[in-house]
Amino acid sequence: MKTIELHFENKVAIITGAASGMGLLASRELAAAGAKVVMCDVNKESLDNEASVLAADAAVAQSGGTAVPCLCDVRRWEDAQSAAALALDRFGRIDLLLCFAGGNEARVCKSPLPFYEQPREVIDWGLDVNLRGPIYMARACMSAMVERKSGVICLLGSVTGFEGDGRGAMYGTAKSGLFNFVKGLAKAGAPHGVRAFCVSPGPVLTRPGMANMKTLLGRAADPPEVVDFILYLASEKGAFVTGTNHVFDGGRLCVPR
Ligand SMILES: NC(=O)c1ccc[n+]([C@@H]2O[C@H](COP(=O)([O-])OP(=O)(O)OC[C@H]3O[C@@H](n4cnc5c(N)ncnc54)[C@H](O)[C@@H]3O)[C@@H](O)[C@H]2O)c1
Repeated sequence: MKTIELHFENKVAIITGAASGMGLLASRELAAAGAKVVMCDVNKESLDNEASVLAADAAVAQSGGTAVPCLCDVRRWEDAQSAAALALDRFGRIDLLLCFAGGNEARVCKSPLPFYEQPREVIDWGLDVNLRGPIYMARACMSAMVERKSGVICLLGSVTGFEGDGRGAMYGTAKSGLFNFVKGLAKAGAPHGVRAFCVSPGPVLTRPGMANMKTLLGRAADPPEVVDFILYLASEKGAFVTGTNHVFDGGRLCVPR
């Protein structure tokens, strides 16, 4: 039987939201496949801890991969620039940008209020982390990709970008903004060998609570299922994919509600 091999040896990847969940898993997979990974997150303790676990990992050492922590708040323009500069100074180029940092503001800010009662800080967090962040990161990384005529940018959307959310209204708004942003990135990047795609999961078991979200298949996704799909699209196997949003939801959007 034909096996599908994905090659990431010596690729340089910037990954946001790398201290937990799918961003951490993608960092592990890429570093173990021989990539140089710049792990970006605001959670310094988890970031340092996870990066040192990866640095000591036998599979990573054997593959020639590396993982370096980068304290980076994607809402800050300067931090996005610094993350790109770190990758360029240390590894000389940026091949991949995977934007996992994100979350529903009502959950992350512990503010389960209807939108019309949400404090401004909660609204700002939802829009800034989920929309401004990927925009700043893409802007910071893309010029180096264009210069080298090669690069891949992955955005993380969500089915909430189609459904909306009465509490975390900015989450859905930002994610649907990414559905359009990915087209802008693809149009700007195509003449220069840079691809962009968005993956929009339904429920993913990075938290047990996600098991409660209904899907046609009666379960939530395991994080490796989503990360494998992303890595396929980010690899040479996905070379024809750009400007598109890929729903990965176990039929969630087909469930009558
Ligand atoms: N888990 C799901 O069910 C699900 C479903 C649909 C979409 N998604 C999307 O997938 C992505 C990853 O989800 P997950 O569940 O693996 O995430 P997670 O909550 O496990 O991890 C998110 C990471 O982002 C980091 N982060 C938060 N704010 C940041 C900032 N300002 N700058 C840099 N890093 C920051 C956090 O510290 C954390 O490490 C998110 O964008 C999420 O919206 C997840």
